[in-house]
Amino acid sequence: MASMNHHYTELQDSYLFRTIDAKVADFRAAHPDADLLKLGIGDVTLPLPPAVIQALHQAVDDQAVKETFEGYQAEVGAPFFRQAVQDYYARNGVELEQAEIFVSSGAKDDLADLLDIFSRGMTALVLEPAYPAYVDANVISGNKLVHLPSSADEDFAPYPDPTIDADIVYLCSPNNPTGATYTIEKLQAWVEWARQKQAVIVFDAAYESFIKDPSIPHSIYAIEGAKECAIEVCSLSKTAGFTGTRAGYTVVPKALVREGLELNALWVRNRTTKTNGISYVLQKAAAAALSPEGQAQCAANVAVYQENARVLMEALDGAGVWYSGGKNAPYVWMRCPGGLTSWEFFDKLLEEEQVVGTPGSGFGQCGEGYFRLTAFNTPENTREAAKRLAQLCSRLA
Ligand code: MLT
Repeated sequence: MASMNHHYTELQDSYLFRTIDAKVADFRAAHPDADLLKLGIGDVTLPLPPAVIQALHQAVDDQAVKETFEGYQAEVGAPFFRQAVQDYYARNGVELEQAEIFVSSGAKDDLADLLDIFSRGMTALVLEPAYPAYVDANVISGNKLVHLPSSADEDFAPYPDPTIDADIVYLCSPNNPTGATYTIEKLQAWVEWARQKQAVIVFDAAYESFIKDPSIPHSIYAIEGAKECAIEVCSLSKTAGFTGTRAGYTVVPKALVREGLELNALWVRNRTTKTNGISYVLQKAAAAALSPEGQAQCAANVAVYQENARVLMEALDGAGVWYSGGKNAPYVWMRCPGGLTSWEFFDKLLEEEQVVGTPGSGFGQCGEGYFRLTAFNTPENTREAAKRLAQLCSRLA
């Protein structure tokens, strides 16, 4: 008889965004004519930048001709892609070796797959509210979870608690869901904590391109000593509109050694065994997104979403609702008005205003009473959603 992984039974019935999809599908079935506006999952709405489209076309043409056809790419990433990431980091003041850079099909995949290089049953520290994949991936792996709740008092970006021991910790800045950012001082404290505990920081930098404040680091490697204690996971989903195209990268520094093992070497072994990477065509597209020309076009798209965030914040200001995020992040994290729980507010916003958001309690218990809005819809839809949101908040105040 097959012996199964019973840790799946410890998970909630469905992943947060699937639960929301099911509720929205029920609402649509009951109200087929409703003009529904989605500010729920952080899915982009702008098309891929022209430099990316051009690279995609060129790469497809390459695959049509014997002389330029490409078969398997290196599992860790094609040299031209690793070079593009290396150059991108160098332009932002971080020197990496190409061998420290790994291609991925997006941050979510690697955030979970990386657990392979740690022992089963280890302790993972999750700073909550948190992206639910951190928790679920560790539950599936049978790891022990320690939750560090955060609150508005510490701007949802807490300092480490020296009394907590863990093998790995997830840090996400700009944060999903709260939009909080970690200052240099706070990241230094976490690097110090990890070095003292011989723990590993998994730094989720998926939203780094939304940082406007020049004092906020885009990479954990801006912090001295981080290469000895941190892995960085990044994605082109939000930066370059790759949610449906898929590409990302992960940095595992060679200086990161635990129990005499180089994590970089373990990850090379893992990747060469478990994946053939992503296609030549996608890596060409991803490299184009990271080129200076691609980056200028990506920045123009990010600016549209930043303006959407401003519109949402303005609506909440007008309605007198407390919120955080939005300034250096595509997420606005608001307090539910009228003392409603997160799911109560979700239901009201859906039923009374036909706007979909994400209940804060889906990101951990300390998210109860909060609600997340994304800035990734179109400007037109965002303006309309902001108007409806303000109406509901004013009624509830
Ligand atoms: C979110 O809405 O939290 C993200 O879009 C989910 C993801 O990136 O997987």
